[in-house]
Amino acid sequence: MLNFNYSIPTKIFFGKGQIEVLGNQIKNYGSKVLLTYGGGSIKKNGIYNRVIEILKDNDIPFWELGGIDPNPRIDSIREGIKICRENDIDFILPVGGGSTIDCSKVMAAGFYYEGDPWDLVIRKSKIEKSLPIGAVLTLAATGSEMDAGAVITNLETKQKLGVSHPSMAPKFSILDPTYTFTVPKNQTAAGVADIMSHTFENYFTLEDGAYLQNRLAEAVLKTCIYYGKIAIDEPENYEARANIMWASSLAINGLLSYGKETIWSVHAMEHELSAYYDITHGIGLAILTPPWMEYVLDDTRLDKFVEYGVNVWGIDSDKDKYTIAKESIDKTKEFFISLGIPMTLREVGIGEENLENMAKAAIEHKDGVVGNFKPLYCEDVLAIYRRAL
Ligand code: NZQ
Ligand code: ZN
Repeated sequence: MLNFNYSIPTKIFFGKGQIEVLGNQIKNYGSKVLLTYGGGSIKKNGIYNRVIEILKDNDIPFWELGGIDPNPRIDSIREGIKICRENDIDFILPVGGGSTIDCSKVMAAGFYYEGDPWDLVIRKSKIEKSLPIGAVLTLAATGSEMDAGAVITNLETKQKLGVSHPSMAPKFSILDPTYTFTVPKNQTAAGVADIMSHTFENYFTLEDGAYLQNRLAEAVLKTCIYYGKIAIDEPENYEARANIMWASSLAINGLLSYGKETIWSVHAMEHELSAYYDITHGIGLAILTPPWMEYVLDDTRLDKFVEYGVNVWGIDSDKDKYTIAKESIDKTKEFFISLGIPMTLREVGIGEENLENMAKAAIEHKDGVVGNFKPLYCEDVLAIYRRAL
């Protein structure tokens, strides 16, 4: 196990009715709020009204920025910074999924940067500090509620890039599983796939001595497998929604990656798909995962797949190792299919046309090589995209 410094500073208020803490929590960090949200789901399911009521009851002045798109755009960030500066706002309150939270994080950082916030995403300039943010999560998927990262899209340059800074981590996040009851089936499925992919990215490493972290990762995967389909079939099943919501936070908040060297693979490849085609992140990940697994499976990586197959899928450990590995990949794919996820790029409108450009971009954005479980070069990424067609 490698050395690490443990720090997961976001306070989590988990469970039904936890929204009651919102007013006091905001007052710990700020006095004028920018409330951010997406395309309107929070207005349909009543969460918006409850949040407004709390802000008013607590005499907290607030401004609003709605309409944040999935795969959030840099333009929304520019708009948010302008509102914050014009009104001396000192706290940002995203209410929504990963897109709204990510967008708010970079707004918070961009507030203190004089140039264009895109500079911060492409690392032309460094983030120094950020306005405090606190999140009300409505979709279990990205883990943005408990990490310091954000992924932002620039449609003009066809770029979707991740950026991270400790100051962007939410000060607190409110996780009420009932808020996810209205998440549609396809977004629930995409969320489960995203959580599993974060876990895979942290789990699939070579002999790292991080036994404990690997068992924790298997627990997160088993939770997704056990409750994923239940959450889709019974959207108001509290237990299923609650377990998936907490899995979302634990998969990416550092717990599974501490002590390991985890350089992610499938995410780097997927971000190009959503940059070029604006597809749903979790769906792209689910499509790419089985072909990635098939492609990287070899003698060096075999034991890790056996560990996965036996511990997560319960495959008989007496079987031949390659049989176990292949069955584990088949089971992963069958699971995604059972959630109703399309399993080919063509089904989500992606053909041959941009595969080479996307493979090149994936490599360029990662300084020449993607991932470290099996380092992937341009021709490898292209081969995986082709398998996924
Ligand atoms: O926009 P609204 O109307 O709110 O509808 C959203 C949106 O259409 C809807 N939704 C959210 N909560 C709902 C709901 N519908 C009904 N009831 C609710 N309670 O779901 C749709 C998708 O929302 P979005 O926020 O885009 O989804 P998600 O949470 O999956 O976020 C995806 C974004 O996060 C990035 C992805 O790349 C993508 O851009 N990621 C962020 C990460 C991070 N910060 O650490 C890591 C991830 O790997 C990921 O890359
Ligand atoms: Zn993800």
